[in-house]
Amino acid sequence: MDKIRIMGGNPLVGDIRVSGAKNAALPLMAASLLTDQPLHLTSVPDLSDILSMIELLTHMGAEITFDRRIDSSSMTLCVKNLSDTTAPYDVVRKMRASVLVLGPLVARAGEAHVSLPGGCAIGTRPIDLHLKGLEALGAEITLEGGYIHAKAPNGLQGGTFTFPIVSVTGTENLMMAATLAKGTTRLINVAREPEIADLAACLTGMGAKISGIGTDTLIIEGVESLQGTTHRVISDRIEAGTYAMAAAITKGNLRLKGACLDLIPTVASLLQQAGVELEEEGEDLIVRSPSAPLQGVDMMTEPFPGFATDLQAQWMALMTLSEGASMITETIWENRFMHVPELCRMGANITIHGSSALVRGVKALKGAPVMATDLRASVSLVMAGLVAEGETVIHRVYHLDRGYEHLEEKLRNCGAEIERIQ
Ligand code: UD1
Repeated sequence: MDKIRIMGGNPLVGDIRVSGAKNAALPLMAASLLTDQPLHLTSVPDLSDILSMIELLTHMGAEITFDRRIDSSSMTLCVKNLSDTTAPYDVVRKMRASVLVLGPLVARAGEAHVSLPGGCAIGTRPIDLHLKGLEALGAEITLEGGYIHAKAPNGLQGGTFTFPIVSVTGTENLMMAATLAKGTTRLINVAREPEIADLAACLTGMGAKISGIGTDTLIIEGVESLQGTTHRVISDRIEAGTYAMAAAITKGNLRLKGACLDLIPTVASLLQQAGVELEEEGEDLIVRSPSAPLQGVDMMTEPFPGFATDLQAQWMALMTLSEGASMITETIWENRFMHVPELCRMGANITIHGSSALVRGVKALKGAPVMATDLRASVSLVMAGLVAEGETVIHRVYHLDRGYEHLEEKLRNCGAEIERIQ
């Protein structure tokens, strides 16, 4: 299994182009199930999760061409014949976002059979709200043999559904389903993550009628059918936030091409409180590190526009070297501190108290062999390795390939000593 070896100590200096967002591209790909015409997506990140979604959609009859180029991959998806409405266990267990096919399948074919995803390293991750929401649109749901069976033989009906907890993919699934339902759907207390507005923009381009985009209530007027369109995937705010923090932890200066502050409002504000300078210049975000040590700043994860849980591990890595202390509270996932023991093996001083972790800044981290446990935890270890004294070897790096396009190249081009080894 591949490992990543890093010799720490080099500041990151240079330019990094931020890729298209994985969490936007996955629902956009699923949206191709809603029409028999081609959907053309540009700025698609070349990641293993994208390949898993290709595998899943191909299994359902999609014809997909993926033109893979560094920084500008594009994809055309066409589901002329929807030949299979099953999302098998083998794909769903690899990638939980496979559940995004559920809404589009029921909307277009009147049925879907999707394997229950089960838990994952960061929590139990239920999908009860996706199912209750589909029931509110008239679908009949049964669970059997580890599969969700959803049926709406006469098509979905518009309805009202209020999310008791904000859910990103839940909102996306129901929004896609509602585009082809008969009548009006009101989705209340929806997630406001930028990836949802991106999906809504693409669906609108396909002929859907959606209002309230960017607010906590979406109103969708169902239409008879949707058509193809061309859509550019928004830039990856989690990748941008990660590299901004990587610049800060290594005391470097980076130009993040294609990043913008609007996509990371709380992250930007906390970075500035810690002492990092951020400045937008045209379509780029410039990150400058102060020569003085960073200050410890408390952080709590929240749905957008709050601090993204997918940047919690990276913030923690950054805080390990700050002056003072930082209380980090995770409110979205119940088991998202698996990077803590690994960071401690590198010399960090972190204690966990329930859903909070108290990070007391230390003078230096030391390289060590460490184990990646999930996608964002892995990259926090890369960040720690970039600044640690000596060599860090990160095991189980396949997690990184799910979410960071050309990670080693991007970091190496900015001065990092990082390589993939067997
Ligand atoms: C999405 C992101 C993931 C990110 C997460 C939170 C994608 C593909 N993945 O995941 O990277 O970490 O948002 O920002 O976009 N919940 C329920 N019942 C449900 C659905 C969710 O109780 O039916 C709970 C979850 O357990 C969790 C919270 O709601 O505590 C938020 O989860 P949700 O927003 O649904 O996460 P995902 O959409 O799976």
